[in-house]
Amino acid sequence: MAKFSVLLILFVLYQAAALIPPKFQWKVMDFAWACDDCCQEKKCALGNETYIPNNNMPTGIARWKNKLFITIPRWKKGIPASLNYVYLNDTQDAPLHPYPNWREGCLTQKDSVVSNRTVVCTFRIHVDKYDRLWVVDNGVTDMATDVKQVTNPAVLVFDLNTDQLLKKYELGADVLRDSSMLTSITVETVGKGGANSTAYAYITDMGSNAVIVYSLHDDEAWRVENHYFHFDPHAGVYKVGGIDFYWSDGVSSATLSQPKKDGYCDLYLHPTSSTKLFKMSTKLLRDKNAPQEDIFNGVEIIGDRGPKSQATACDIDPITNVMFYTQVCKNGLGCWNMDKEFNQANTPLILSDCNIMEFPNDVKVDQEGNLWILSDRQSRFLYESMDFKQVNFRVLTAPTNILVRGTPCEKKVLKGSPFISSKLK
Ligand SMILES: *[C@@H]1O[C@H](CO)[C@@H](O)[C@H](O)[C@H]1NC(C)=O
Ligand SMILES: *[C@@H]1O[C@H](CO)[C@@H](O)[C@H](O)[C@H]1NC(C)=O
Ligand SMILES: *[C@@H]1O[C@H](CO)[C@@H](O)[C@H](O)[C@H]1NC(C)=O
Ligand SMILES: *[C@@H]1O[C@H](CO)[C@@H](O)[C@H](O)[C@H]1NC(C)=O
Repeated sequence: MAKFSVLLILFVLYQAAALIPPKFQWKVMDFAWACDDCCQEKKCALGNETYIPNNNMPTGIARWKNKLFITIPRWKKGIPASLNYVYLNDTQDAPLHPYPNWREGCLTQKDSVVSNRTVVCTFRIHVDKYDRLWVVDNGVTDMATDVKQVTNPAVLVFDLNTDQLLKKYELGADVLRDSSMLTSITVETVGKGGANSTAYAYITDMGSNAVIVYSLHDDEAWRVENHYFHFDPHAGVYKVGGIDFYWSDGVSSATLSQPKKDGYCDLYLHPTSSTKLFKMSTKLLRDKNAPQEDIFNGVEIIGDRGPKSQATACDIDPITNVMFYTQVCKNGLGCWNMDKEFNQANTPLILSDCNIMEFPNDVKVDQEGNLWILSDRQSRFLYESMDFKQVNFRVLTAPTNILVRGTPCEKKVLKGSPFISSKLK
């Protein structure tokens, strides 16, 4: 019996890997240079080091219609643009297009911005249900070597149908700290006004262990702190791609439940260096005058996913009500059906592949029920060296209902697993 279930688990993992072939894959990230036959521009950019191919490592994704947005933080020099997209109908090694365009997506020769639509340095982004792209910009270059603040950190909101900038809000010293590193943004829309409806953005500050709330309606931001936003000393050790490293990263990713009976959502969040999941009601987060004591007691521990289960990112699929999260040390993806109890049996690893999923960094569910995963070999990039003759960066995608089929994250309780037996025939 025990052997049988081991076989079943392996089979489910194998099936899942076969179900999710790479949609995009790159050895190095390259761009859609304007001059396509002569490549003069690329040559110049290589010559003057505004483009250093090996320094470009993507960390975030978000899909909107025919575009897949891909972010590249400015860890090192030679990043042409931090916010980019590829067309879904393009080739598997699709070139990146700076967003909103080449002129405003890049920095000037003196490392300054051309317009208020220029994003300097972003890790992860969010597309809301009203076709708006939300970006949190750290405003820095050369993070790993010689940090330079080019612009103030800011929240930017773009209308994806017109590429117009709807809003830019600069985050002030009242909400930031010297160690701030803004790693993700998720958005709660309020009211039925379509693209006019107001919204709250929840930004994780991994570097200084806080959630920053931004109200679009009031055009104001505030900072929320809690002990649970800090790293867990039991979960600071990692091994990915054969490289051991130690991180003490705080809260780095957050995602929202569907609205509850009281009209508010729960913000689910986790530090990177932790194996636990937490939640906090947006009723509390949205109240900028909430008493300190309520904030202190306002975070609930959902549970622990078990050893070596650190996650860099998570997202909830509203259709299946399943939360998906990256499993960095397992080169895979985990899930939890939120209608079920949170325990180790109900939070399985459903994908794992030490080749195509080495260092899964971001995970997103789009508006049509597809899951998107970005894997990027980040530990090799940061701590050793990458072999640019191999594929290093991949984007994998599959419908969420197919991914969870036959796993504990599927809605119905399966007896005798009909999916597996039909596949075995
Ligand atoms: C480097 O070359 C690119 C492409 O021709 C050009 O757009 C950019 O202004 C140049 N930058 C510097 C610092 O010379
Ligand atoms: C992909 O879509 C874009 C815009 O929707 C279009 O401009 C382009 O020609 C298409 N490319 C291919 C290869 O079909
Ligand atoms: C961006 O800058 C332009 C030109 O200076 C200005 O007209 C516009 O109001 C600004 N937009 C935002 C959202 O700040
Ligand atoms: C948003 O507001 C504009 C201008 O006030 C209006 O024309 C438009 O119909 C509104 N859109 C929605 C979806 O309510």
